Amino acid sequence: MCGIVGYVGQRSCTDVLMDGLSRLEYRGYDSAGIAVFENGIIKVAKSKGRLKDLADKMDREGRLEGHAGIGHTRWATHGEPSDRNSHPHGGGSVTIVHNGIIENYKRLKDFLLSKGRTFESDTDTEVVAQLLDYYYQATPGDPVKAIIKTMKELEGSYALGVVFADFPDTVFALRKESPLIVGLGEGESFIASDVTAILQYTRDYYLLEPNEIAVLSKDGAKVYDLHYQEIKKERKTADWDVSAAEKGGYPHFMIKEIHEQPVAVKTTIAPRITDGMPDLSECGITPERLREFHAINVVACGTAMHAGMVGKYVIEKLAKVPVNVDIASEFRYREPLVGEGDLVIIISQSGETADSLAAMRLAKELGAKTLAIVNAKGSSIAREADMLIYTHAGPEIAVASTKAYMVQIAVMYLFAFELALAKGVIDEAECRRLTALLQETPAQIEQVLADKELTQKIAAELITADSLLYIGRGLDYALSMEGSLKLKEISYIHSESYAAGELKHGTISLITENMPVIAVATQKRLYEKTISNVKEVKARGAKVVLICREGCCPDQDVADHVFQIPNFDDLLMPMIAVVPLQLIAYYTAVLKGTDVDKPRNLAKSVTVE
Ligand code: G6P
Repeated sequence: MCGIVGYVGQRSCTDVLMDGLSRLEYRGYDSAGIAVFENGIIKVAKSKGRLKDLADKMDREGRLEGHAGIGHTRWATHGEPSDRNSHPHGGGSVTIVHNGIIENYKRLKDFLLSKGRTFESDTDTEVVAQLLDYYYQATPGDPVKAIIKTMKELEGSYALGVVFADFPDTVFALRKESPLIVGLGEGESFIASDVTAILQYTRDYYLLEPNEIAVLSKDGAKVYDLHYQEIKKERKTADWDVSAAEKGGYPHFMIKEIHEQPVAVKTTIAPRITDGMPDLSECGITPERLREFHAINVVACGTAMHAGMVGKYVIEKLAKVPVNVDIASEFRYREPLVGEGDLVIIISQSGETADSLAAMRLAKELGAKTLAIVNAKGSSIAREADMLIYTHAGPEIAVASTKAYMVQIAVMYLFAFELALAKGVIDEAECRRLTALLQETPAQIEQVLADKELTQKIAAELITADSLLYIGRGLDYALSMEGSLKLKEISYIHSESYAAGELKHGTISLITENMPVIAVATQKRLYEKTISNVKEVKARGAKVVLICREGCCPDQDVADHVFQIPNFDDLLMPMIAVVPLQLIAYYTAVLKGTDVDKPRNLAKSVTVE
């Protein structure tokens, strides 16, 4: 996720861009840059790091002065955070800023290379800039025509701000999937990834729809479709305060991030799938290398450790390689038996968790190879690992992790598929089938997100509970750990997760009518077994919420609420079934009136032991 701003009018463009970007920094903050028409010529200033680093650079090297331009704050997807990879990117007469991901950029880059074009960065964005210029050179004088031709070639999700050297008083914008609005002021126009960036100048805006192109001048904006027909847009007026706007209209970052999960999954997996097969070669992972490993340890903390639990089930089932999951603070002090021939996977959203970092350093000392699955680009864990897979969730602001967990497990699946293929346990056809299923999960997640009424109703009944139990078997057990953690983190209701089959060895003595039980039963093979456990707790008076697949028809009196999720492949069920668990936790916390995004005593990134 990145932030885009654009301006054309009478004010100092640099002021407007820098101010707007500061309000969009929550969307990404590993580099920033602006392009401004100075006396009719496009000038660029960009820098790795926070916006402040860009401001300092301009203080040192000179501030750009002009009245039209575009700006960007970045959260890296293609190419590490660096000055070179920072936006804006240029291609001949075109300069652009980009939010999103171009899935077919490799093919387009090859095409442009064959036309003699050269590239300065590792980004997919530069490919778009070059392609725009390529088409513009074919129809000079008509940027919209070049934009339309380019859009027809691009696959993926994107929003772009564009300036053409030949049109110094004009800013162009276009989008597909990634958000973009066009702000309408008196004698000035704006573009922005969200309305927050421009609220202090105007509250009037157009919402750009997918496949629309906006042409902005100081006198207003015209919007075209892909047939070059002008579209009459409805003018909207923002009535949000600034903080609501940053949350895209959602009341909390957590619920916004829950909704961002389908896009986060697509953005994370798309660059790692080539011709329908997992391809982690860019992350330093090759079949030859994978065949060297005999055992795997996954080491992490909190939610990331729970993603590791899902990974354990999936890797062992598919690739037949033993997987141990460790809490990082335990691993580092228990003299773990890892060494040469072992792979240690460290999962971390922040990439800075002190215990996870120490555990990784220990694993390296012991001779194991390390693979980091990290969301924050350039973080310590990312820098020090032998191999690295970045998740592309974008910045996660809410302390309770949701979208980062989702993409961590998405990566675990891709890794398991590739490992199983490398080890010869599955064949190419099966690998292809599984990869296609993984690509379907964003649509399934959307489906669960479409109706929240039942999770709200369940939450309303949970707020009076002092304690809750989450139960499941196999992958459902791994998932119930995450469900339970989510609830206790933000609602402050005590909860525990338990392997359903282990209940009767002690914990069932806690069951009374005051102890609600959330049972996860999505695995066909284990369904009847879990239902027997559900009957045991129900017989002892517990209120039961059952999460199962569509088409399962439990007896009417088995559960008080049955949440049915789309009928999907057993192996991939966690990616879908986690959503109702997140929603139940979220709405329970909201109804209890807790500080959902910043729960007491918790920190987003725990950089101390
Ligand atoms: C903290 C956060 C959790 C997170 C854990 C691990 O406890 O509150 O949400 O799961 O740290 O963080 P990491 O950044 O390593 O994933």
